[in-house]
Amino acid sequence: MSATLPSWPYPRYIAHRGGGRLAPENTLAAMRVGAEHGFTMFEYDVKLSSDNVLVLMHDDNVDRTSNGKGPAASKTYSELAQLDFGSWHSAAYAGEPLPTFAAVARYTVANGIASNVEIKPCPGREAETGRATALAARQFWQGAATPPLLSSFAEEALQAAREAAPELPRALLVEKVPADWRERLAKYECVALNINQKDATRELIDAVHAAGYRIAAWTVNDPERARLLLDWGIDGIFTDELAAIRPAA
Ligand code: G3P
Ligand code: MG
Repeated sequence: MSATLPSWPYPRYIAHRGGGRLAPENTLAAMRVGAEHGFTMFEYDVKLSSDNVLVLMHDDNVDRTSNGKGPAASKTYSELAQLDFGSWHSAAYAGEPLPTFAAVARYTVANGIASNVEIKPCPGREAETGRATALAARQFWQGAATPPLLSSFAEEALQAAREAAPELPRALLVEKVPADWRERLAKYECVALNINQKDATRELIDAVHAAGYRIAAWTVNDPERARLLLDWGIDGIFTDELAAIRPAA
C-alpha cells in the first residue's frame, strides 16, 4: 500500500540551468531558450554576492562562465554585473549579464514557468544563503499559482530555508543516495529527493514513493534513459538536451 504523495504541481521535464547546453547557463537568455523549446519549468543555481545580492551562478569561481576571475564570494554585485556571462558560450550571447534572482523570479512568474531554485551557497555561507533565498522566494512568489521548489546539496542551507519559510516546498539534493535518505527527508520536511540519474532504479523510485516523497533526477541527457525513467514513474527529469528531451508539443 503506497503512502499519500505530497502535492507536486510541477511538470516532469525541467530545463537544467534554464537553457541546458543551448545558451549560457543561469542567464535570462537561457530561460528564453528554454521557454522557446516548450519547457515550463527551469532549474537554476542561486548564491549571494559579497554584498548580499542573490544572483544566479553555479560555480564558486566566475572563471568558467564569465570573462572575470576568482571567487564569486569576494565580489560585490556591482563587480559581478560588469562581467560578460555570455561570451564563454558563443558570440551570439556576448555581453549577457548575470541575472539577479529577483529578475529571474519576475520572468518565470510572469510567464507561468515553474522554478526549481537550487540554493548553491558560496563556501561558508550555507545558512545565510538558505535563509536569504527562502525569504526572497516567499516575497517574489507571493500570490503566484505555483510555489518554487527549493533544493540544495547543502543541508545547512536547506535547514535554514525550512526555518525561514517552512511553507515553501523543499527537495534534498544528493550526489549519492545516502542509506538514511528517509530520515534526512523527514528532518528538513522535504517533499522530494533529487538524485543523480545514475542512481535511478525502478526500485528506488518505488521506495521513495512508498515512503511518501517525490523523486527527480539530474542530469538526464540520453533520450532513451529519459523515457525509461519516465516509464518508471519518476516525478521529474532535469535535462541539458532541450532539443532531444522535451515536453510533447
Ligand atoms: O539541481 C539539479 C542539478 O543542477 C544539481 O547539480 O551541479 O548541476 O547544480 P548541478
Ligand atoms: Mg543546479
